This record gives sequence, structure tokens and C-alpha cells, in this order.
Amino acid sequence: MKRIAVLTSGGDAPGMNAAVRAVAKVAMAKGIEVFGVKRGYLGMLHDEIFRMDGSYVSGIIDRGGTVLLTARCLEFKDPKFRAIAAENLKKRGIEGIVVIGGDGSYRGADLLSKEHGIKVVGLPGTIDNDIVGTDYTIGFDTCLNTILDAMSKLRDTATSHERTILMEVMGRHAGDLALHACLAGGGDGVLIPEAENPLEMLVYQIKERRRQGKLHDIVLVAEGVGKVQDVEDYMREKVSTEVRSVVLGHVQRGGTPSGFDRVLATKMGARAVELLEQGEGGVMVGIENNQLVTHPISFAWEGTRKYDIKKDYELAVMLSK
Ligand code: F6P
Repeated sequence: MKRIAVLTSGGDAPGMNAAVRAVAKVAMAKGIEVFGVKRGYLGMLHDEIFRMDGSYVSGIIDRGGTVLLTARCLEFKDPKFRAIAAENLKKRGIEGIVVIGGDGSYRGADLLSKEHGIKVVGLPGTIDNDIVGTDYTIGFDTCLNTILDAMSKLRDTATSHERTILMEVMGRHAGDLALHACLAGGGDGVLIPEAENPLEMLVYQIKERRRQGKLHDIVLVAEGVGKVQDVEDYMREKVSTEVRSVVLGHVQRGGTPSGFDRVLATKMGARAVELLEQGEGGVMVGIENNQLVTHPISFAWEGTRKYDIKKDYELAVMLSK
């Protein structure tokens, strides 16, 4: 394969730039021409495709966000628009693409591959850590650390005012960010969509903590559980402590990527190019048991997650008492 392209799609995640850089640099080292696609599938459709050189990816490894820009492109669900996008690749002689994004982005890639013979490799780029076929996604670790930083700050004020603070974190339908933040930040409770989350238990726990002389609580609430405001309203009625809720929001998607995310992104980017060079496509790259692995791209929606989140949830509940 002599020409490939790279794009970022869906919500941005810290480490996407490191992946783009690795794809571009490894491709160039192998004598493969590499193109960048702006704004994900939207740019593919609107022909925003350009030849990348070394200077484009220089100095980006430590930058959050994505220099290629990103978008969610609804038109791509329509085969007629996918045909236009594929033609924009083919007229440049681009035979393979690396798509860095979430499983929604993989679905678009899969269709492009099946309908138009473009070889595709998916790299898991999302803060949510919700992709089947990989233990970690690019951006999760950085995001977790951002949450932990905010958690420490919230704890200062929660302690000073002897309050219960409910902290809503992102994750779409997955509780990984909330759960890991609870485990790593010493949270005093956690609500995730994968568990039952009986609110009465949380109330009991908070009352019990006061009896033990503990003066504050930080409870992690995954956005997939529902509105944190509803949890706050419920808690206010049941506990005597002052309750506040905080929605951390998009600050979680920004910031300089952690060392872990940069290394993960770099290794995955390099593997993607090797796969395309060997003529392989229709696959996603993951990391399992500290080894890079590949799965058919459809594994992201057809496969089952290996991660036993319930076990870690039980641990978090035990430790937050
Ligand atoms: O998938 C990444 C993510 O940040 C989710 O955690 C969140 O639910 C969603 O994207 C937010 O999307 P938007 O930036 O479009 O509001």
C-alpha cells in the first residue's frame, strides 16, 4: 500500500494527536504517503483531505484535542454520502485509512470497507473506555487524572464545609471513569450504570460515616446513571448534611495527554500502519494484558467486554464505607 489517510472522529480525547503523529511518522519512515482528513468523516465527504508532511505532526505529541479537528457526521449513515467520501479517497489513490475514535466511528469505517473496498484500521480514541476489544482507550488515563485533580479540590471545600458533594463525570453509557476515580481518589460512594446503585444504601452510608465522625463525602456519579440533580434532590431530603452537586463537563476532555496515553497512542498508531502495509483491513487495534491485539472491527459491537466491572464496583463500595 502506497497511500494511506488518517482521521479523528467523534469526541476528542487526549492522546489523539500522539496517535496521528505516530501514524504519519511511521508511514513516512516506510515510504508510504500519508494524508490527513479534517473533521473526520465530514471532511472526507467535503474533500478536506491533504498531504501530510513531518512538520504537520511536529510538536503535537503533548497537545490535547486533535489537530485534525473532529466532528460527528450524521450524513455518513447514508450510503450515497459514503460513496462520495470513498471517491474522494480513491481519486488520490488512498487505499487505506486509520480511524481514531469510538465505536460509532468504527461502524462508519466498517461500511466504507465493505461497500468500497477501502482498508480500514480502527484505533480506540475516547475518554470513555467503552470499546470492546481493548482494556484501555486512548484518552481514558488522562481524563481519569483530570477527574482526580478536580476531586482533590472538591474534597478541600467539602471538608471545610462538612458537605456531601456529588460529582458527575462523563463516560456516556459506561461507568469506568466514575469507578476508577472512586478507586483512585478514595471516593466515598459511586453510582455507575452497570450496577443497581440503590440510593437508600448511599444514604445509609453517608449517615453511618457521620456517626463515625467523618465530616465530608465525595460521591462519583457516572453520567450514564441519569441527572446528578435528581440524585441531589433525593439526597437533600434524606440526609442532614448539606448536599451540592458538580457537573465536571468538558474540562474532562482537555489537557496534555498523560505518558500512558502517549505511549499507548504511539504504539497503536505504529501498529495501524504496519497492518495497512501488510494489506490488512477491517480490524481494530486494542491492548489486552499489556499486549497489542487486533480484532475484526465489528468486534467492537458484536463482542463482549472482558472487564468485570461489577467486581471492581463491589471493591469500590467496600472501600468507600
Ligand atoms: O464520548 C466522549 C464524550 O465526552 C462522552 O463522555 C459524553 O457523553 C459525550 O462525549 C459528550 O458529547 P458532546 O461533546 O457532543 O456533548
